Amino acid sequence: MGDNAKLIIGDKTYEFPVLVGTENEYAIDISKLRSQSEFITLDSGFGNTGACKSAITFLDGDKGILRYRGYPIEQLAEKSTFVEISYLLIFGKLPNQKELDKFSQTFAEFSMIHEDMKNFFNAYPSGAHPMAILSAMICSLSGYYPDLVKSHMTDDLFYRLAAQLLSQVRTIAAFSYKKSIGEPFVYPRHDLKYVPNFLNMMFSSPAKPYEIREEVVRALKVLLVLHADHEQNCSTSTVRMVGSSEANLYASISAGILALWGPLHGGANQAVIEMLEAIQADGADLNKYINKAKDKTSDFRLMGFGHRVYKNFDPRAKIIKQCADDLLNKMGIHDPLLDLAKRLEEAALKDEYFVSRKLYPNVDFYSGIIYRAIGIPLNMFPVMFAIGRMPGWIAHWREMTKDPMTKIGRPRQIYTGELTRDYVSIEQRS
Ligand code: ACO
Repeated sequence: MGDNAKLIIGDKTYEFPVLVGTENEYAIDISKLRSQSEFITLDSGFGNTGACKSAITFLDGDKGILRYRGYPIEQLAEKSTFVEISYLLIFGKLPNQKELDKFSQTFAEFSMIHEDMKNFFNAYPSGAHPMAILSAMICSLSGYYPDLVKSHMTDDLFYRLAAQLLSQVRTIAAFSYKKSIGEPFVYPRHDLKYVPNFLNMMFSSPAKPYEIREEVVRALKVLLVLHADHEQNCSTSTVRMVGSSEANLYASISAGILALWGPLHGGANQAVIEMLEAIQADGADLNKYINKAKDKTSDFRLMGFGHRVYKNFDPRAKIIKQCADDLLNKMGIHDPLLDLAKRLEEAALKDEYFVSRKLYPNVDFYSGIIYRAIGIPLNMFPVMFAIGRMPGWIAHWREMTKDPMTKIGRPRQIYTGELTRDYVSIEQRS
């Protein structure tokens, strides 16, 4: 492989540097193309466009590989905790005991939100989607911490901001659920670890304390770890795009949450269960729905299937499927939707349409089964994804703000509208 790539247009040749990543991924750096010529590139959906260099997460979609800072996802899901993974993604190394204790202590210190913010929850109508509330609340936090509302800050301030956001997102998520069911808020507790603390805020009430079960904590921890980062996905790219204007972390993450909400991204976990319920209610005729998903005149898709990058299998889906089985067995739950999901997967993977397009279950196909078993309501599923993705968003925002190569995100376009024409008064318009 030469050092340069050549682009020949007519009688002109343009040369661009070729970059190689540590895992031997190649890129042509065309950042000077527009200044040297009249051309831009067109890449709808950015499927071939590298927006940055990043040292956080590596994934190989053909081989089904996902690693955070070099560590395979399978090992992390099995052995690590969410707080540890957050530290790893954000600061680049696994914390030693002292570092982990300090990080956890900072979580505890900043787990409360300002009492006044409770009024915000009360002002929402009960049917409001919790993703809308979460995004607004994260942005609203900026009003309470003016010293953190900046793009560039010292390592100490950033450390506090990162720990605070990771801790408070959990409190906000649980408060929004309590508000939706009309129960009093349950405050965070210093004696509980990250996942049990969240479960307690969600499910305990003055009438009935919540029994924290080890298998539930484990399943939720695995899900959070698996969702923690996924390099330049839609929501993380949104965080980077917003942050590239030197918008603060609250604003950037608030925007990322809204990008995640869409059913083609983090909203897919909710959409999968809605789809499975609809199929079940319609007599569980799998062929009918597989044919519908293949029919180009229908807008129905198999939710939880397909991925922009994974073309063999999604390693997260494999772990989650096993995790769902284990949890339901341990809890003695029989969920007919899990059986239906497995049968749907089996049928789709035998079908030429899905095989030829390399469409496999993604991270969202089985995660909803676990959330259901835990008792998390359907519209909170994307919120669970957002809690999990928080360390990735924070890590990418920080990496971007520290990278001297960062420029404001500002793509170009090919204009396809009207040519110039004169304004006509309203009386003369047809
Ligand atoms: N059901 C039916 N057909 C599908 C599906 C699906 N779930 N996914 C892709 N296809 C088809 C497309 O129609 C297209 O067919 P064609 O070549 O005949 O036109 C082909 O497969 C390629 O699909 P694209 O839409 O071009 O793939 P893209 O990379 O743009 O989209 C996406 C990826 C959005 C994930 C898509 O597969 C999808 O909509 N899946 C369902 C929603 C979902 O599960 N999203 C969660 C993704 S994981 C995450 O974000 C956390």
